[in-house]
Amino acid sequence: MRPRLPSPAQDIVDERFERRGVRLLLKRDDLIHPELIGNKWRKLAPNLAAAAGRTVLTFGGAYSNHLRATAAAGRLLGLRTVGVVRGQELADRPLNPSLARCAADGMRLHFVDRATYRRKTASDTLAAVLRAAGAEDAYVVPEGGSNPLAVRGCRALGEELAGRADVVAVACGTGGTLAGLAAGFGSGTRALGIPVLKGGFLATDVGALQAEAFGGPRGDWSLDDRFHFGGYARTAPALEEFAADFEQRHGVPVERVYVAKLLYALVSLAEENAFPRGSTVAAVVTGRPFP
Ligand SMILES: Cc1ncc(COP(=O)(O)O)c(C=O)c1O
Repeated sequence: MRPRLPSPAQDIVDERFERRGVRLLLKRDDLIHPELIGNKWRKLAPNLAAAAGRTVLTFGGAYSNHLRATAAAGRLLGLRTVGVVRGQELADRPLNPSLARCAADGMRLHFVDRATYRRKTASDTLAAVLRAAGAEDAYVVPEGGSNPLAVRGCRALGEELAGRADVVAVACGTGGTLAGLAAGFGSGTRALGIPVLKGGFLATDVGALQAEAFGGPRGDWSLDDRFHFGGYARTAPALEEFAADFEQRHGVPVERVYVAKLLYALVSLAEENAFPRGSTVAAVVTGRPFP
């Protein structure tokens, strides 16, 4: 199926923004493709082309959206895929629904212990993992799919929004989407990243991704580190309540690991009067709830 690009931008009427004179747009990247959802199409399409028919090997945790998207892409394009999964202990347990979907899409799962997983970008560890997975000739896509091709693929997201918003906000894992997005605007639009992981390392990573993809810094971007709720996949009753309420108000499915934190952050920032009256804020809907 062809991707729906540019993805639709949807005006949202929400009193929490309206009363501060702020217009909220949802950039519906979740509608690009039924299986290559959100930033996954933008990141994977150039990599699958570069793989040129080779087996694609990539990395992820037990609930990784990126692993599921890669597996689905493999099925759709007839490419073999291997998923290197964090957590050797998972090998002896029944697959969770996310990994079961990967397997059903034909992805071969290779479980590694957490120490190996942490060192996976070191060349000797990577070589050993490829050997153990029987995939030495594979085209390797990093965790979260964020390599220079993916970052350049995300630049189109910024181009689609150039001139349409004052602030474009996106939830960040590896920071690849933000790095590309920020490079796509002209002047007058700034990007705001909301990290869902705890740690404060992301600004360095985004800078490095931009240097690799574009040769240096691009665009006006910043991070607000206050909305990770304790870290990756961590949640809180207030966040869950917020996401369910947003879905009910607007009829938009809210993915909980990334998108819920982004929207929560934007409502909080509006309440702090962080956006000037008359400004337009676009939130990128990078995912959809699974299952
Ligand atoms: C739904 C969703 N939103 C946002 C992101 C963050 O993207 P990035 O890793 O490019 O920061 C991811 C990461 O995989 C994701 O699955």
